[in-house]
Amino acid sequence: MTDFLDLAVSIAREAGQMLIAKRPARPEAVSTKSSATDVVTALDRACEELIRARILAARPGDAILGEEGGETGGVTSGEGRVRWVVDPIDGTVNFMYGLPDWCVSIAVEVDGEIVAGVVNVVPRGELFAAARGGGAELLREGLPAERLRCNTGVPLAGALIATGFGYRPERRAVQAEVLAHVVPRVRDIRRGGSCAADLCSVAAGRVDGYYERGTEYWDFAAGGLVATEAGARIGGLGGRPCNPELTLCAAPGLFEELHDLLEPLDPERDG
Ligand code: IPD
Ligand code: CA
Ligand code: CA
Ligand code: CA
Repeated sequence: MTDFLDLAVSIAREAGQMLIAKRPARPEAVSTKSSATDVVTALDRACEELIRARILAARPGDAILGEEGGETGGVTSGEGRVRWVVDPIDGTVNFMYGLPDWCVSIAVEVDGEIVAGVVNVVPRGELFAAARGGGAELLREGLPAERLRCNTGVPLAGALIATGFGYRPERRAVQAEVLAHVVPRVRDIRRGGSCAADLCSVAAGRVDGYYERGTEYWDFAAGGLVATEAGARIGGLGGRPCNPELTLCAAPGLFEELHDLLEPLDPERDG
């Protein structure tokens, strides 16, 4: 597991350096997906290609699921079926505008269970890393590694909650309605613009909880492990998985309060 984490850390670092070196003053969208907000830049693709090349150079038999390139490869060996889950830039809109919340997110699964996760929030010089059962850490150049623990014992009314708005255009009006119900019931809301970085913020106690509907597996695979290894719970509604359900993350206690607040307002209720 440490080997997987070490490899993921070194690839996420190299990918981050490449993005900083090659980022133009104002990266442009080369295409859009579900809506005008759902953009792809040339560097989203180049970064995923770099990450895929490095994974395959080290471990040619592994499967890779990436946001830009889909799922490729994979053989089952003695150690099980290993699959890498890659979001080359999580927070592409922030990346385009020069806002600091974007990251490279890489998770490693063995037989369907995530065993290692790395979220490199490049502009902040912060790399979050977790191995299943081994805890979560924040690594910063020149500083000792910091063990992460999420905030506990925070009631909903005193909670700072991060959220995001999945990009499907038909969801936008419902997202606003849900937000209108949530805002008066919590301390405040943050919309950082990167699901993976938001989950690491839960892990680091910078926010108390997070919710969003419409996230994809590569958005939360690595950050979800960082958060759970820091003591948080992650899941969907009624014990179901996050994807394609609402993704909720908070310490036990607040998780249930957030769940019960959001379940009746489920943003997918109107499609
Ligand atoms: C997006 C970010 C954003 C979230 C969206 C995601 P991308 O990922 O994580 O915070 O609200 O749902 O799609 O497209 O920038 O990798
Ligand atoms: Ca995207
Ligand atoms: Ca993403
Ligand atoms: Ca992305």
